[in-house]
Order: sequence, then C-alpha cells, then structure tokens
Amino acid sequence: MSVSTKLYEGKAKIIYPTDDPEIFLAVFKDDATAFNAQKRGSIQGKGAINCSISSQLFQLLETRGIKTHFVDNPAPNQMRIKAVKILPLEVVVRNIAAGSLCQQTGLALGTVLKQPLVEFYYKNDRLGDPLLTRDRLLVMELATAEQVDRITHLALQINEFLKEFFQQCSITLVDFKLEFGLDSKQQLLLADEISPDTCRLWDISTQEDADRRILDKDRFRLDLGNVENAYQEVWKRVLKVVEAKE
Ligand code: TMP
Ligand code: ASP
Repeated sequence: MSVSTKLYEGKAKIIYPTDDPEIFLAVFKDDATAFNAQKRGSIQGKGAINCSISSQLFQLLETRGIKTHFVDNPAPNQMRIKAVKILPLEVVVRNIAAGSLCQQTGLALGTVLKQPLVEFYYKNDRLGDPLLTRDRLLVMELATAEQVDRITHLALQINEFLKEFFQQCSITLVDFKLEFGLDSKQQLLLADEISPDTCRLWDISTQEDADRRILDKDRFRLDLGNVENAYQEVWKRVLKVVEAKE
C-alpha cells in the first residue's frame, strides 16, 4: 500500500482507506511522543503490542455489550476498524490521582478517589488538549448533551470492566483515556485504542515502589527506562488472562 493513500497520520497510528468505504485500516506505529509531541522517541515493538492489547480488550468489551470500532487484525500491528468520525474529545477516567489531576488540584499522587472521575479534554494539539467543562463542550458543539451523557455512562461501564480485567493481570488501573466516534448511521462506537500508551497501569506486586510499579507510557514520559519491558510485560499478562477465559 503506498504512503500517499493514507487518510490520516496521527502520533501513534496511520489510518488507510480500504476497498470497503465502511472499513479503515489502522497501522500502529512504534513512534512515541509526550507533552504534545515536544518529546519524541520510539518504543520497539509498541505498535504490535498496543494493537494486540487493544484488539483483545475491544473484543472483550463487545461481549459486554459495548460497541467498538474493532473488526479484525490482518497483522499484529494492524487493526481493521469501522469507519467512524472521531469526536474531538479525550475522555479520561480516573480511579487514583496521578498526572495532570495531581498537577492541577494538588491531590497527592496515589490518592484513591471515592468514585471514578470522568473528564473531557478538547482534542486539539494547537491548544494543548485543554480540560473542558460540560457547558464549554456544549457551547462549542463538540457533542450533544445526549452524547455526553451516553459517553459518561459508557466510560464508567468500561472502567468497571477494565478495572476488574487488569486486577486479574495483577495490575491497578489508575486512569485511562478513551475516544469515541460516530459511524455512518450516527451510532456511537468506542474507538482509538486502549493500551499502555493510553492507560496508567501500576504493577500490584511492586505497588510500594513508585517508579518500579509503572508499566505504561509514564516510563517514557518520565525517562524511567525499561520502557519496552513494561509494554511486553503488560501484553504477556493480558494474553494470559485472555487465554484463561477461552
Ligand atoms: P493526564 O493525567 O496526563 O491528564 O493523563 C490521563 C490519562 O490519559 C493517562 O492514562 C494517560 C492518558 N493520556 C493519553 O492517552 N493521551 C494524552 O495525550 C494524555 C495527555 C494522556
Ligand atoms: N498525546 C501526547 C502527545 O501529544 C502523548 C501523551 O502524553 O500521551 O505527545
């Protein structure tokens, strides 16, 4: 497939059209960026690992009645997906305070939240993906009130499923980011990816060691080293739990 046919290239994936207008091909890259692409690098094997983890999680979520864009995997770093128009929203669900929540509120890292927090950020690199309020989001017409309510409900349902799944992997799901899209029938589908790039994942067995426990992209963001090992470890544990379910 020639590069010129790509529909879109993001920081972690390239989207290609296919012969079927209802289906796109997402190719996951090893490229890694952080802090709105001010930090750039590569994580060897990340594309295939993130694609594989996301594919397994999307399929499991489908069995729980959550509609996703997943179709199938032509290769380990490729996902055929339903053609959706992505809503320009980053939907973050948090169970434990970390990252920007600590920076913006002063909550101590690791504070267990009494209830999951669902937040909406404007997916806009030029503006640095700012945190939105519900009213701002509605004024900007980024989604309808009905869509916001539906997304919030789905995000909490997905959180309950993922928390339990990662618990079985001996991993604490600290927080994660979701994206949603609308298909040609305006149906809302879970899209993008769910991977160590988009989740904070802490190893339960090394919980007491703030750096060693990190099994996600924070190893790259914060220059903690052993980035590839962490991604491989998550994939190994996810596969083990998935295979045990089969
Ligand atoms: P934050 O604490 O930096 O706001 O990140 C919250 C979650 O969202 C964390 O699991 C990492 C994920 N995330 C992304 O997937 N993409 C991003 O661009 C950012 C900033 C965070
Ligand atoms: N999406 C971020 C970036 O723009 C990466 C991150 O922090 O996850 O580089």
